[in-house]
Amino acid sequence: MTGGPVLAVDQGTSGTKALVLCPERGVIGSGTAPVRPRYLPGGLVEVDPRELYDSVVSAGLAALAEADTPVVAVGLANQGETVLAWDPATGLPLTDALVWQDRRAASVCAELDSQSERLRQLTGLPLDPYFAAPKMAWIRRHATGAGVVTTSDAWLVHRLTGAFVTDAATAGRTGLLDLDTLAWSRTALDLYGLGGERLPRVVDCDTPVGTTTAFGPPLPLTGLLVDQQAALLTQSADQPSAAKCTYGTGAFLLAQTGPEPRRTSSGLVSCVAWRLRGRVSHCLDGQVYTVASAVRWLTDLGVIAGAEELDPVGGGVPDAGGVTFVPALAGLAAPWWRGDVRGSLTGLGLDTTPGHLVRALCEGIAAQVVELSSAVAADRGAPLTSLRADGGLTRSALLMQTQADLLQLPVEVSSLPDATALGVGAVARLGHDPRLTLREAVPEWKPSVVYEPRISGAEAAERLARFRREVSALVERADAGV
Ligand code: G3P
Repeated sequence: MTGGPVLAVDQGTSGTKALVLCPERGVIGSGTAPVRPRYLPGGLVEVDPRELYDSVVSAGLAALAEADTPVVAVGLANQGETVLAWDPATGLPLTDALVWQDRRAASVCAELDSQSERLRQLTGLPLDPYFAAPKMAWIRRHATGAGVVTTSDAWLVHRLTGAFVTDAATAGRTGLLDLDTLAWSRTALDLYGLGGERLPRVVDCDTPVGTTTAFGPPLPLTGLLVDQQAALLTQSADQPSAAKCTYGTGAFLLAQTGPEPRRTSSGLVSCVAWRLRGRVSHCLDGQVYTVASAVRWLTDLGVIAGAEELDPVGGGVPDAGGVTFVPALAGLAAPWWRGDVRGSLTGLGLDTTPGHLVRALCEGIAAQVVELSSAVAADRGAPLTSLRADGGLTRSALLMQTQADLLQLPVEVSSLPDATALGVGAVARLGHDPRLTLREAVPEWKPSVVYEPRISGAEAAERLARFRREVSALVERADAGV
């Protein structure tokens, strides 16, 4: 790494993490601030946008205080598909932010069902309430017609600098960006009824977009990126063929595909990884909506005291005891795209213990990631040789071992725990110093631990088949409206 220290801010679903990254000494300051989304009946997930902004400022200030050294630039990673309406004159929010997990825009998607293939070809994204456009349309129909309606990054950047912009990768999460031209698609906008909207200018991820005084002295904001793509940058800058999975609120598996869009025939998302120095990299992307959210659900039910108990409780039993858990607690994303499917726990008996439930949860998460890995391999026409992992839940050796077992590949846990902040920090560095190369900006990638498969291929196939049978039954039940 070369260049001066930068402040890298990762604004996520349940909190904001900020790091001060020094080219010579690595991480020299860090700060966190919680965000509390509200999980409401009917699949609604909302957050007060002011909480997002306040958490950016307080995490950033804490990181700077710890580093106690001036920084030259700021980078900001965002949640991707979280949207709100806001007043561009005052900068004030006009609605709560609808978080990416929010399902209320299913009604918009149902209305557009006949156009789903057209939209997928045009934008690379399936028609699903996960993405920004259906939520934007829902806000326009049911909440307010005033102001602008954008992803959360555009609002945060406006609050920080006054600019009205979004980066090409975040724009690619809306369902409104033409995947080939990387311009807002008139067709998609009209289909969603958003043709009259004032939209942010789409910029390269490493564009200096303005100056912020939110952290004290004026600082240029020179890096913008979606959080998952930022983690992909950290995890694959040294090896573009590497696939990464971030295990956080959800699990997100991404793999680069090169300078041209690669349309998926396996149910993934085809989207922009980043546009840096005017050059685009594309990626394939698949999601498991509930991972830490599913752990929180087990915690709320009192099965475990928290994520730190996954290993001791799950380690107390040798297997899942015949229990199968499909943790589709907010529906199924890629490759199924069945938001209407609900989760299931089957094979329960009087002898089922919390340990069996924990192991079944780990298997349910890992099995979904296997489906995503297989889809990436099919679309790229080459099998994966390993999976790089980051995110808070990589601390669970049980989850990572289960992943290696079901995938039948090594799982390499990144030694860089904050891959997202490191990625957007690298982008901020590129935006600040035009002489720097990508390889110079991104920290060296190393695994901290590698999990090798410990079960046979036949055993893995049998467990996956059981999981797939259960998913098929759930899909059938949803089809029948049961
Ligand atoms: O697509 C949503 C995802 O990027 C959110 O990630 O880290 O905020 O849970 P995170």
